[in-house]
Amino acid sequence: MMSGMLEIDDVYTAYDKADVLQGVSLTVQPGSITCLLGSNGSGKTTLVRSILGLTPARAGRIVFNGTDITRLPTHKVVAAGIACIPEGRKVFPKLTVEENLRVGAYQESSDKVTQSRMADIFRIFPRLAERRTQLAGTMSGGEQAMVSIGRGLMCAPKLLLIDEPSLGLSPRLVKENFNIIRQINERGITVLLVEQNVHQTLAISHFGFVISKGRVATSGTPSELAGRSQVRDAYFG
Ligand SMILES: Nc1ncnc2c1ncn2[C@@H]1O[C@H](COP(=O)(O)OP(=O)(O)O)[C@@H](O)[C@H]1O
Ligand SMILES: [Mg+2]
Repeated sequence: MMSGMLEIDDVYTAYDKADVLQGVSLTVQPGSITCLLGSNGSGKTTLVRSILGLTPARAGRIVFNGTDITRLPTHKVVAAGIACIPEGRKVFPKLTVEENLRVGAYQESSDKVTQSRMADIFRIFPRLAERRTQLAGTMSGGEQAMVSIGRGLMCAPKLLLIDEPSLGLSPRLVKENFNIIRQINERGITVLLVEQNVHQTLAISHFGFVISKGRVATSGTPSELAGRSQVRDAYFG
């Protein structure tokens, strides 16, 4: 009997005929940073899409805080408390920082709540506060990463899915971003961190799973995983 915040049980997901996910099972414990490592094309983003109901699982079960969300439409998954920072950190380039953040709170009807969440985010990211009226498309990659994380936080999620935050960032910005992820987690948000960057990801995670060809190849604590061959395979593809 598992009792995680998120329970993924024997999930199969296909885009057309072939199953990309072939029986994935994993657990995310409340309060943790749990990572999902795997090489390019192993099915990481597909799992994120299945959790969010964008590409629903064709078999298996996804349970969030005791509720079966396997077949819920995306807006209900988000309303249940799951937010996602997608691969590529897509910001709305023609919207200001503040407008980008507002979009993240579209399900919140109270302006007072929206304002107080935005104030929180400006405390986490003082740089965004300074640039609240700047168009997001004119900001640096690292700043856009902050905007996308901030936008993910605007719906006050219980669980944040972060898909390859380090992709395309300089080592300095990767470090900065991972520090931010750790801070967010310390504020009580559970994180499922999807990455190819094994070293730094294991450094901030409490537990990890390695996915290969649509299946979980191994799992363990960061120190358990550090020496395993499946992790090297995930890293080198
Ligand atoms: N929208 C899609 N339609 C069809 N196949 C897809 C789609 N997205 C991903 N795939 C395929 O699913 C497999 C896993 O992709 P993905 O989940 O994006 O892997 P990862 O995020 O680990 O790099 C790949 O073979 C990829 O080509
Ligand atoms: Mg991906």
